[in-house]
Amino acid sequence: MSVSENTPSKPTARTGSPAAENTRKGAHAAGSAARNNAGAIARSKVIKSDPWMDSYAARADNMRASEIRALFSVASRPDVVSLAGGMPYLEYMPFDELSDLIAKMMRDKGDVAWQYGSAQGDPHLREDVLQIMALEGIKDVQPDDVVISNGSQNALDLITRIMCDPGDVVIAEAPNYVGALGVFQSFQVEVVNAATDENGLIPESFEETIIAANKAGKKVKFLYTVPNFHNPAGVTMSVERRPRILEIARRHHVLVVEDNPYGLLGFDGQTYPALRSMDAENVVYLSSFSKIIAPGMRIAWMVAPTGIRKKLILANEASILCPPNMSQMTITTYLDNFDWKQQISQYRGMYKERCDTMDAALREFLPYCSWNKPKGGFYIWLQIPEGLNSKEMLPRAITAKVAYVAGTGFYLDGRGTHHMRLSFCYPTPENIRIGIERLASVMNNELRTARLFGTSPDERTKQGIKRR
Ligand SMILES: Cc1ncc(COP(=O)(O)O)c(C=O)c1O
Repeated sequence: MSVSENTPSKPTARTGSPAAENTRKGAHAAGSAARNNAGAIARSKVIKSDPWMDSYAARADNMRASEIRALFSVASRPDVVSLAGGMPYLEYMPFDELSDLIAKMMRDKGDVAWQYGSAQGDPHLREDVLQIMALEGIKDVQPDDVVISNGSQNALDLITRIMCDPGDVVIAEAPNYVGALGVFQSFQVEVVNAATDENGLIPESFEETIIAANKAGKKVKFLYTVPNFHNPAGVTMSVERRPRILEIARRHHVLVVEDNPYGLLGFDGQTYPALRSMDAENVVYLSSFSKIIAPGMRIAWMVAPTGIRKKLILANEASILCPPNMSQMTITTYLDNFDWKQQISQYRGMYKERCDTMDAALREFLPYCSWNKPKGGFYIWLQIPEGLNSKEMLPRAITAKVAYVAGTGFYLDGRGTHHMRLSFCYPTPENIRIGIERLASVMNNELRTARLFGTSPDERTKQGIKRR
Protein backbone atom coordinates (compact mmCIF):
# COMPACT_ATOMS: atom_id res chain seq x y z
CA MET A 1 0.00 0.00 0.00
CA SER A 2 1.39 3.39 -0.89
CA VAL A 3 1.01 5.74 2.05
CA SER A 4 2.07 8.96 0.42
CA GLU A 5 2.45 10.94 -2.72
CA ASN A 6 5.13 13.29 -3.88
CA THR A 7 3.23 16.43 -3.00
CA PRO A 8 4.60 19.60 -1.48
CA SER A 9 2.95 20.97 1.62
CA LYS A 10 1.34 24.38 1.62
CA PRO A 11 3.92 27.15 1.26
CA THR A 12 5.04 28.68 4.52
CA ALA A 13 3.81 32.05 5.68
CA ARG A 14 6.94 33.90 4.64
CA THR A 15 7.01 32.26 1.23
CA GLY A 16 3.45 33.11 0.51
CA SER A 17 0.48 31.08 1.85
CA PRO A 18 -2.26 33.51 0.78
CA ALA A 19 -4.26 32.94 3.96
CA ALA A 20 -1.30 33.51 6.21
CA GLU A 21 -0.15 36.51 4.20
CA ASN A 22 -3.60 38.08 4.46
CA THR A 23 -3.79 37.52 8.19
CA ARG A 24 -0.42 39.10 8.74
CA LYS A 25 -0.82 42.03 6.36
CA GLY A 26 -4.29 42.65 7.72
CA ALA A 27 -3.02 42.60 11.25
CA HIS A 28 -0.17 44.95 10.48
CA ALA A 29 -2.38 47.34 8.63
CA ALA A 30 -5.12 47.30 11.22
CA GLY A 31 -6.65 50.69 10.80
CA SER A 32 -9.26 52.59 8.83
CA ALA A 33 -8.54 50.96 5.44
CA ALA A 34 -8.96 47.53 6.95
CA ARG A 35 -12.54 48.26 8.03
CA ASN A 36 -13.78 48.80 4.48
CA ASN A 37 -14.72 45.24 3.70
CA ALA A 38 -16.23 42.22 5.42
CA GLY A 39 -12.93 40.37 5.63
CA ALA A 40 -11.31 43.29 7.33
CA ILE A 41 -14.19 43.60 9.80
CA ALA A 42 -13.70 39.96 10.73
CA ARG A 43 -9.99 40.61 11.18
CA SER A 44 -10.54 43.64 13.32
CA LYS A 45 -12.70 41.47 15.62
CA VAL A 46 -9.74 39.11 15.97
CA ILE A 47 -7.50 42.06 16.79
CA LYS A 48 -9.94 43.22 19.46
CA SER A 49 -9.90 39.80 21.11
CA ASP A 50 -6.09 39.64 21.11
CA PRO A 51 -4.43 43.03 21.68
CA TRP A 52 -1.06 41.58 20.56
CA MET A 53 -2.32 40.41 17.17
CA ASP A 54 -0.16 42.88 15.27
CA SER A 55 2.94 42.22 17.37
CA TYR A 56 3.59 38.56 16.64
CA ALA A 57 6.60 37.42 14.68
CA ALA A 58 5.79 36.05 11.23
CA ARG A 59 6.81 32.58 12.43
CA ALA A 60 3.90 32.51 14.90
CA ASP A 61 1.44 32.57 11.98
CA ASN A 62 2.16 28.95 11.22
CA MET A 63 1.80 27.60 14.72
CA ARG A 64 -1.30 25.50 15.28
CA ALA A 65 -2.53 23.23 18.03
CA SER A 66 -1.62 19.60 17.47
CA GLU A 67 -4.75 17.56 16.78
CA ILE A 68 -3.43 15.07 19.31
CA ARG A 69 -3.03 17.59 22.15
CA ALA A 70 -6.46 19.01 21.37
CA LEU A 71 -7.90 15.54 21.94
CA PHE A 72 -6.16 14.87 25.22
CA SER A 73 -8.80 16.26 27.57
CA VAL A 74 -11.72 14.30 26.08
CA ALA A 75 -9.71 11.22 25.23
CA SER A 76 -8.48 10.88 28.79
CA ARG A 77 -11.99 10.64 30.27
CA PRO A 78 -12.21 7.22 31.96
CA ASP A 79 -15.26 6.13 29.94
CA VAL A 80 -13.53 6.82 26.61
CA VAL A 81 -11.25 4.15 25.13
CA SER A 82 -8.43 6.24 23.78
CA LEU A 83 -6.63 4.83 20.78
CA ALA A 84 -5.26 8.33 20.24
CA GLY A 85 -2.20 9.03 22.39
CA GLY A 86 1.33 7.73 21.88
CA MET A 87 1.89 7.27 25.62
CA PRO A 88 3.96 4.32 26.77
CA TYR A 89 2.34 2.00 29.32
CA LEU A 90 4.36 2.40 32.51
CA GLU A 91 2.79 -0.11 34.91
CA TYR A 92 5.82 -2.38 34.74
CA MET A 93 8.30 0.29 35.79
CA PRO A 94 9.91 -0.63 39.15
CA PHE A 95 8.75 2.60 40.80
CA ASP A 96 9.04 1.36 44.39
CA GLU A 97 12.68 0.32 44.15
CA LEU A 98 13.45 3.31 41.95
CA SER A 99 12.06 5.80 44.44
CA ASP A 100 14.41 4.46 47.16
CA LEU A 101 17.38 4.82 44.84
CA ILE A 102 16.33 8.31 43.81
CA ALA A 103 16.01 9.29 47.48
CA LYS A 104 19.57 8.01 48.06
CA MET A 105 20.82 9.87 44.97
CA MET A 106 19.26 13.05 46.38
CA ARG A 107 20.90 12.54 49.79
CA ASP A 108 24.31 11.83 48.25
CA LYS A 109 24.32 14.23 45.31
CA GLY A 110 21.40 16.63 45.83
CA ASP A 111 23.71 19.63 45.42
CA VAL A 112 24.55 18.44 41.87
CA ALA A 113 21.04 17.27 40.96
CA TRP A 114 19.54 20.64 41.91
CA GLN A 115 22.33 22.68 40.27
CA TYR A 116 22.86 23.95 36.69
CA GLY A 117 24.72 21.48 34.50
CA SER A 118 26.58 21.37 31.21
CA ALA A 119 24.86 22.44 27.97
CA GLN A 120 26.09 19.24 26.34
CA GLY A 121 24.57 17.12 29.10
CA ASP A 122 25.73 14.95 32.00
CA PRO A 123 28.94 13.04 31.01
CA HIS A 124 27.74 9.96 32.91
CA LEU A 125 24.54 9.82 30.88
CA ARG A 126 26.44 10.51 27.65
CA GLU A 127 28.57 7.47 28.46
CA ASP A 128 25.51 5.32 29.29
CA VAL A 129 23.70 5.99 26.01
CA LEU A 130 26.61 4.46 24.07
CA GLN A 131 25.46 0.99 25.17
CA ILE A 132 21.94 1.70 23.94
CA MET A 133 23.08 2.89 20.52
CA ALA A 134 25.39 -0.12 20.14
CA LEU A 135 22.26 -2.32 20.03
CA GLU A 136 21.46 -0.76 16.65
CA GLY A 137 24.98 -0.93 15.30
CA ILE A 138 26.33 2.49 16.34
CA LYS A 139 29.67 1.57 17.87
CA ASP A 140 32.10 4.32 16.89
CA VAL A 141 30.71 7.08 19.14
CA GLN A 142 32.44 8.64 22.17
CA PRO A 143 30.63 10.45 25.02
CA ASP A 144 31.95 13.70 23.61
CA ASP A 145 30.00 13.10 20.36
CA VAL A 146 26.68 13.05 22.25
CA VAL A 147 24.46 16.01 23.16
CA ILE A 148 21.56 15.58 25.62
CA SER A 149 18.26 17.36 24.92
CA ASN A 150 14.88 17.88 26.59
CA GLY A 151 13.22 15.06 24.69
CA SER A 152 13.60 14.50 20.97
CA GLN A 153 11.06 17.23 20.42
CA ASN A 154 13.59 19.76 21.67
CA ALA A 155 16.29 18.06 19.56
CA LEU A 156 14.15 18.55 16.44
CA ASP A 157 13.74 22.21 17.35
CA LEU A 158 17.50 22.64 17.79
CA ILE A 159 18.50 20.95 14.54
CA THR A 160 15.93 22.95 12.57
CA ARG A 161 17.00 26.15 14.32
CA ILE A 162 20.65 25.75 13.30
CA MET A 163 20.04 24.41 9.77
CA CYS A 164 16.99 26.16 8.32
CA ASP A 165 16.07 29.65 7.20
CA PRO A 166 12.47 30.51 6.30
CA GLY A 167 11.58 29.00 2.93
CA ASP A 168 14.23 26.25 3.10
CA VAL A 169 13.04 22.77 2.28
CA VAL A 170 12.96 19.71 4.53
CA ILE A 171 12.11 16.45 2.79
CA ALA A 172 10.03 14.07 4.88
CA GLU A 173 8.00 10.91 4.67
CA ALA A 174 4.24 11.29 4.47
CA PRO A 175 2.29 10.98 6.66
CA ASN A 176 4.63 12.88 8.98
CA TYR A 177 5.26 12.78 12.73
CA VAL A 178 3.01 15.60 13.88
CA GLY A 179 5.51 17.05 16.39
CA ALA A 180 8.14 17.45 13.66
CA LEU A 181 5.60 19.22 11.45
CA GLY A 182 4.94 21.66 14.28
CA VAL A 183 8.66 22.44 14.56
CA PHE A 184 9.14 22.83 10.80
CA GLN A 185 6.14 25.13 10.58
CA SER A 186 7.34 27.28 13.42
CA PHE A 187 10.62 27.85 11.54
CA GLN A 188 8.71 28.58 8.30
CA VAL A 189 10.29 25.62 6.58
CA GLU A 190 8.65 24.13 3.52
CA VAL A 191 8.00 20.42 4.07
CA VAL A 192 8.07 18.41 0.85
CA ASN A 193 6.95 14.80 1.03
CA ALA A 194 8.76 12.01 -0.77
CA ALA A 195 6.79 8.85 -1.46
CA THR A 196 6.85 5.89 0.91
CA ASP A 197 5.46 2.37 0.77
CA GLU A 198 5.42 -0.58 3.15
CA ASN A 199 9.25 -0.58 3.05
CA GLY A 200 9.53 3.06 4.09
CA LEU A 201 10.94 5.93 2.06
CA ILE A 202 11.36 5.13 -1.64
CA PRO A 203 14.92 6.06 -2.71
CA GLU A 204 13.95 7.05 -6.26
CA SER A 205 11.24 9.38 -5.00
CA PHE A 206 13.67 10.87 -2.47
CA GLU A 207 16.13 11.70 -5.26
CA GLU A 208 13.41 13.06 -7.57
CA THR A 209 12.18 15.28 -4.75
CA ILE A 210 15.66 16.73 -4.19
CA ILE A 211 16.13 17.37 -7.91
CA ALA A 212 12.70 19.02 -8.26
CA ALA A 213 13.33 21.29 -5.26
CA ASN A 214 16.79 22.27 -6.55
CA LYS A 215 15.30 23.01 -9.99
CA ALA A 216 12.75 25.28 -8.35
CA GLY A 217 15.66 27.19 -6.80
CA LYS A 218 14.98 25.94 -3.27
CA LYS A 219 17.57 24.84 -0.75
CA VAL A 220 17.03 21.33 0.59
CA LYS A 221 18.51 21.35 4.08
CA PHE A 222 17.81 17.86 5.30
CA LEU A 223 15.86 14.65 5.02
CA TYR A 224 13.79 14.02 8.14
CA THR A 225 13.12 10.31 8.52
CA VAL A 226 11.70 7.98 11.18
CA PRO A 227 13.12 4.74 9.77
CA ASN A 228 11.83 2.28 12.39
CA PHE A 229 8.17 1.59 13.23
CA HIS A 230 7.15 4.95 11.88
CA ASN A 231 4.82 7.32 13.69
CA PRO A 232 2.07 7.25 12.38
CA ALA A 233 2.54 4.92 9.37
CA GLY A 234 3.91 1.94 11.37
CA VAL A 235 6.28 1.00 8.52
CA THR A 236 10.04 0.33 8.70
CA MET A 237 12.60 1.34 6.09
CA SER A 238 13.99 -1.85 4.55
CA VAL A 239 17.62 -2.65 5.30
CA GLU A 240 18.30 -2.79 1.57
CA ARG A 241 17.09 0.80 1.06
CA ARG A 242 19.17 2.33 3.85
CA PRO A 243 22.55 2.57 2.07
CA ARG A 244 20.81 3.77 -1.08
CA ILE A 245 19.11 6.63 0.76
CA LEU A 246 22.43 7.57 2.36
CA GLU A 247 24.26 7.50 -0.97
CA ILE A 248 21.66 9.80 -2.58
CA ALA A 249 21.80 12.19 0.38
CA ARG A 250 25.63 12.34 0.24
CA ARG A 251 25.69 12.86 -3.53
CA HIS A 252 23.28 15.82 -3.27
CA HIS A 253 24.84 17.18 -0.07
CA VAL A 254 21.62 16.76 1.90
CA LEU A 255 21.94 16.03 5.61
CA VAL A 256 19.93 13.11 7.04
CA VAL A 257 18.14 13.60 10.36
CA GLU A 258 17.36 10.12 11.68
CA ASP A 259 14.69 10.21 14.42
CA ASN A 260 14.68 6.85 16.17
CA PRO A 261 12.58 6.66 19.35
CA TYR A 262 11.05 3.23 18.56
CA GLY A 263 14.02 1.24 17.16
CA LEU A 264 14.32 -1.07 20.21
CA LEU A 265 10.62 -1.88 20.23
CA GLY A 266 10.62 -4.54 17.49
CA PHE A 267 8.12 -7.15 18.67
CA ASP A 268 10.44 -10.09 18.05
CA GLY A 269 13.48 -8.32 19.46
CA GLN A 270 14.69 -7.58 15.93
CA THR A 271 16.69 -4.39 15.35
CA TYR A 272 17.78 -2.71 12.12
CA PRO A 273 21.12 -1.04 11.47
CA ALA A 274 20.79 2.67 12.22
CA LEU A 275 21.49 4.98 9.28
CA ARG A 276 24.05 6.60 11.57
CA SER A 277 25.90 3.27 11.84
CA MET A 278 26.53 3.44 8.07
CA ASP A 279 27.45 7.09 7.76
CA ALA A 280 29.04 9.18 10.51
CA GLU A 281 29.56 12.29 8.42
CA ASN A 282 26.15 12.94 6.95
CA VAL A 283 23.68 11.85 9.63
CA VAL A 284 22.34 13.53 12.76
CA TYR A 285 20.96 10.77 14.97
CA LEU A 286 18.20 11.37 17.54
CA SER A 287 16.95 8.92 20.10
CA SER A 288 14.97 9.22 23.29
CA PHE A 289 14.15 7.53 26.59
CA SER A 290 10.48 8.45 26.14
CA LYS A 291 9.23 5.26 24.50
CA ILE A 292 11.77 2.70 25.71
CA ILE A 293 11.70 3.80 29.36
CA ALA A 294 9.43 6.75 30.19
CA PRO A 295 8.73 10.24 28.81
CA GLY A 296 8.28 12.15 32.07
CA MET A 297 11.97 12.93 32.55
CA ARG A 298 12.03 14.56 29.08
CA ILE A 299 15.48 13.24 28.22
CA ALA A 300 16.75 12.35 24.73
CA TRP A 301 20.06 12.52 22.93
CA MET A 302 21.67 13.46 19.62
CA VAL A 303 24.84 12.37 17.85
CA ALA A 304 26.08 14.68 15.13
CA PRO A 305 29.20 15.32 13.02
CA THR A 306 31.64 17.65 14.82
CA GLY A 307 30.65 21.02 13.29
CA ILE A 308 26.94 20.40 13.71
CA ARG A 309 27.44 19.08 17.24
CA LYS A 310 29.20 22.29 18.28
CA LYS A 311 26.31 24.36 16.92
CA LEU A 312 23.79 22.10 18.69
CA ILE A 313 25.51 22.70 22.02
CA LEU A 314 25.41 26.45 21.45
CA ALA A 315 21.75 26.23 20.44
CA ASN A 316 20.97 24.16 23.56
CA GLU A 317 22.67 26.78 25.69
CA ALA A 318 20.74 29.61 24.01
CA SER A 319 17.47 27.75 24.33
CA ILE A 320 17.52 26.08 27.77
CA LEU A 321 21.04 26.73 29.22
CA CYS A 322 21.34 23.05 30.05
CA PRO A 323 19.23 19.91 30.21
CA PRO A 324 17.98 19.30 33.78
CA ASN A 325 20.49 17.51 36.02
CA MET A 326 17.72 16.03 38.14
CA SER A 327 16.18 14.22 35.16
CA GLN A 328 19.50 13.07 33.77
CA MET A 329 20.61 11.70 37.13
CA THR A 330 17.29 9.93 37.59
CA ILE A 331 17.82 8.20 34.25
CA THR A 332 21.41 7.20 35.08
CA THR A 333 20.23 5.91 38.47
CA TYR A 334 17.74 3.73 36.65
CA LEU A 335 20.18 2.53 33.97
CA ASP A 336 22.92 1.74 36.50
CA ASN A 337 20.71 -0.24 38.88
CA PHE A 338 18.15 -2.10 36.80
CA ASP A 339 18.22 -4.61 33.99
CA TRP A 340 16.94 -2.10 31.44
CA LYS A 341 17.41 -4.50 28.53
CA GLN A 342 15.09 -6.96 30.25
CA GLN A 343 12.63 -4.14 30.91
CA ILE A 344 12.60 -3.16 27.22
CA SER A 345 12.11 -6.78 26.29
CA GLN A 346 9.10 -6.95 28.65
CA TYR A 347 7.67 -3.83 26.99
CA ARG A 348 8.17 -5.39 23.56
CA GLY A 349 6.17 -8.47 24.61
CA MET A 350 3.39 -6.29 26.01
CA TYR A 351 3.17 -4.09 22.89
CA LYS A 352 3.24 -7.16 20.65
CA GLU A 353 0.23 -8.61 22.50
CA ARG A 354 -1.62 -5.30 22.18
CA CYS A 355 -0.79 -4.99 18.49
CA ASP A 356 -1.97 -8.58 17.87
CA THR A 357 -5.20 -7.81 19.74
CA MET A 358 -5.83 -4.69 17.67
CA ASP A 359 -5.04 -6.50 14.44
CA ALA A 360 -7.43 -9.35 15.33
CA ALA A 361 -10.18 -6.92 16.38
CA LEU A 362 -9.79 -4.97 13.12
CA ARG A 363 -10.08 -8.20 11.13
CA GLU A 364 -13.20 -9.14 13.05
CA PHE A 365 -15.02 -5.80 13.22
CA LEU A 366 -13.62 -3.70 10.37
CA PRO A 367 -12.71 -6.14 7.60
CA TYR A 368 -13.48 -3.50 4.94
CA CYS A 369 -10.63 -1.25 6.14
CA SER A 370 -6.98 -1.82 5.24
CA TRP A 371 -3.74 -1.55 7.18
CA ASN A 372 -0.22 -2.92 7.37
CA LYS A 373 0.38 -4.82 10.59
CA PRO A 374 3.49 -3.20 12.12
CA LYS A 375 6.43 -5.28 13.35
CA GLY A 376 7.09 -2.98 16.29
CA GLY A 377 6.34 0.42 17.79
CA PHE A 378 3.00 1.87 18.86
CA TYR A 379 0.77 2.53 15.84
CA ILE A 380 -1.53 1.14 13.17
CA TRP A 381 -2.28 3.46 10.25
CA LEU A 382 -5.78 2.55 9.19
CA GLN A 383 -7.21 3.28 5.78
CA ILE A 384 -10.99 3.70 5.90
CA PRO A 385 -13.39 3.30 2.97
CA GLU A 386 -13.64 5.97 0.33
CA GLY A 387 -16.39 8.39 1.34
CA LEU A 388 -15.83 8.25 5.08
CA ASN A 389 -14.00 11.22 6.55
CA SER A 390 -11.92 10.49 9.65
CA LYS A 391 -11.86 14.10 10.78
CA GLU A 392 -15.61 14.65 10.45
CA MET A 393 -16.39 11.32 12.07
CA LEU A 394 -14.29 12.02 15.18
CA PRO A 395 -16.97 13.83 17.26
CA ARG A 396 -19.31 10.90 16.60
CA ALA A 397 -16.61 8.46 17.66
CA ILE A 398 -15.98 10.38 20.87
CA THR A 399 -19.71 10.37 21.57
CA ALA A 400 -19.50 6.59 21.13
CA LYS A 401 -16.60 6.64 23.64
CA VAL A 402 -13.68 5.84 21.41
CA ALA A 403 -10.93 8.25 20.33
CA TYR A 404 -8.35 8.11 17.53
CA VAL A 405 -6.28 10.70 15.70
CA ALA A 406 -7.65 11.72 12.31
CA GLY A 407 -5.15 11.32 9.47
CA THR A 408 -5.35 15.02 8.61
CA GLY A 409 -3.20 15.80 11.66
CA PHE A 410 -0.22 14.18 9.95
CA TYR A 411 -0.27 16.31 6.79
CA LEU A 412 -0.12 20.02 6.17
CA ASP A 413 -2.21 20.08 3.03
CA GLY A 414 -5.56 18.58 4.00
CA ARG A 415 -4.72 15.00 3.02
CA GLY A 416 -5.42 12.22 5.50
CA THR A 417 -9.23 12.26 5.57
CA HIS A 418 -9.27 8.57 4.64
CA HIS A 419 -6.84 7.53 7.32
CA MET A 420 -6.62 7.46 11.09
CA ARG A 421 -3.87 6.61 13.54
CA LEU A 422 -4.75 3.95 16.08
CA SER A 423 -2.35 3.59 19.03
CA PHE A 424 -2.23 0.24 20.78
CA CYS A 425 0.46 1.21 23.31
CA TYR A 426 -1.60 2.42 26.25
CA PRO A 427 -5.04 0.72 26.47
CA THR A 428 -5.23 -2.82 27.80
CA PRO A 429 -6.00 -5.62 25.29
CA GLU A 430 -9.58 -5.80 26.63
CA ASN A 431 -10.07 -2.08 26.06
CA ILE A 432 -8.47 -2.24 22.62
CA ARG A 433 -11.08 -4.79 21.57
CA ILE A 434 -13.91 -2.71 23.05
CA GLY A 435 -12.52 0.40 21.35
CA ILE A 436 -12.36 -1.22 17.92
CA GLU A 437 -15.88 -2.62 18.33
CA ARG A 438 -17.15 0.89 19.15
CA LEU A 439 -15.24 2.34 16.21
CA ALA A 440 -16.80 -0.25 13.92
CA SER A 441 -20.30 0.64 15.06
CA VAL A 442 -19.59 4.32 14.31
CA MET A 443 -18.22 3.51 10.86
CA ASN A 444 -21.04 1.09 10.07
CA ASN A 445 -23.52 3.82 10.97
CA GLU A 446 -21.75 6.32 8.74
CA LEU A 447 -21.80 3.88 5.85
CA ARG A 448 -25.50 3.08 6.41
CA THR A 449 -26.35 6.77 6.39
CA ALA A 450 -24.30 7.21 3.24
CA ARG A 451 -26.24 4.45 1.53
CA LEU A 452 -29.54 5.96 2.67
CA PHE A 453 -28.71 9.34 1.16
CA GLY A 454 -26.99 7.86 -1.85
CA THR A 455 -23.98 10.06 -1.17
CA SER A 456 -20.95 9.64 1.00
CA PRO A 457 -20.76 11.55 4.30
CA ASP A 458 -17.99 13.84 3.06
CA GLU A 459 -19.89 14.44 -0.20
CA ARG A 460 -22.92 15.48 1.86
CA THR A 461 -20.82 17.88 3.87
CA LYS A 462 -19.53 19.44 0.65
CA GLN A 463 -23.12 19.79 -0.53
CA GLY A 464 -24.23 21.23 2.83
CA ILE A 465 -26.64 18.32 3.54
CA LYS A 466 -27.14 17.89 7.29
CA ARG A 467 -26.83 14.54 9.05
CA ARG A 468 -30.03 13.17 10.57
C1 LIG B 1 8.86 10.06 15.78
C2 LIG B 1 8.91 10.81 17.07
N1 LIG B 1 9.90 11.68 17.28
C3 LIG B 1 9.97 12.38 18.42
C4 LIG B 1 9.02 12.24 19.41
C5 LIG B 1 9.14 13.08 20.66
O1 LIG B 1 9.75 12.34 21.65
P1 LIG B 1 10.21 12.96 23.03
O2 LIG B 1 9.24 12.51 24.04
O3 LIG B 1 11.59 12.39 23.23
O4 LIG B 1 10.24 14.44 22.89
C6 LIG B 1 7.96 11.34 19.23
C7 LIG B 1 6.90 11.22 20.24
O5 LIG B 1 5.84 10.70 20.03
C8 LIG B 1 7.92 10.60 18.04
O6 LIG B 1 6.94 9.71 17.81
